[in-house]
Amino acid sequence: MKFFIDTANIDEIKKGIDMGLVDGVTTNPTLLSKEKKDPNQVIKEIMSIVSGPVSLEVISKDREGMCKEARQLAGLGENAVIKIPMTEEGIKAVRILSQEGIKTNVTLVFQPIQALIAAKAGATYVSPFIGRLDDISSRGMGIIEDITTIFNNYGFETEIIVASIRNPLHVLDAALLGADIATIPFNVLKQLISHPLTDIGLERFLKDWGSIQR
Ligand code: E4P
Repeated sequence: MKFFIDTANIDEIKKGIDMGLVDGVTTNPTLLSKEKKDPNQVIKEIMSIVSGPVSLEVISKDREGMCKEARQLAGLGENAVIKIPMTEEGIKAVRILSQEGIKTNVTLVFQPIQALIAAKAGATYVSPFIGRLDDISSRGMGIIEDITTIFNNYGFETEIIVASIRNPLHVLDAALLGADIATIPFNVLKQLISHPLTDIGLERFLKDWGSIQR
């Protein structure tokens, strides 16, 4: 299972790399807007420090605009993956880009048939947003299960990125379902490592060790 970090913050990406937990990065316009910097500069910096796939999202709504942006973004590096929204125009763009050998990540997926359509169009990745479904009392992880079944039924190579992750249980459930990738915010990445009993246990070991030192 691969872990991507879901952020456009350079410091968080560097810390995640240092922890050995960054197989790739996903960004989106909201994450980039939080950085309050020139987004193009931020994107270039991310590309310069990450060797795994980096998802960069287009902002055009029409096929031509999406493809134009995608070609420019793809020129930033071999590891650039172009995030395309799950719309009719988006799917048309994915089909064209996939024929050109440009990697795509179909984003804002909320039901399994959207994922099937993205895979049929040749998407490299699909990103079902499970947290946003949970937010509206719909079982987000259910669609990961369904998409996995559908992709296995037909042998699609499109990888599933479990997105919109809110807590460590989302990562656990994604792993139990055998999802290819989870894209995880930095705060959740840190939560994955720690456990209060680990901290208490370590403190006791060190205290006991200290008691036998002269
Ligand atoms: C995925 O690629 C998106 O960037 C992200 O997971 C969205 O998460 P959110 O619902 O927390 O905004």
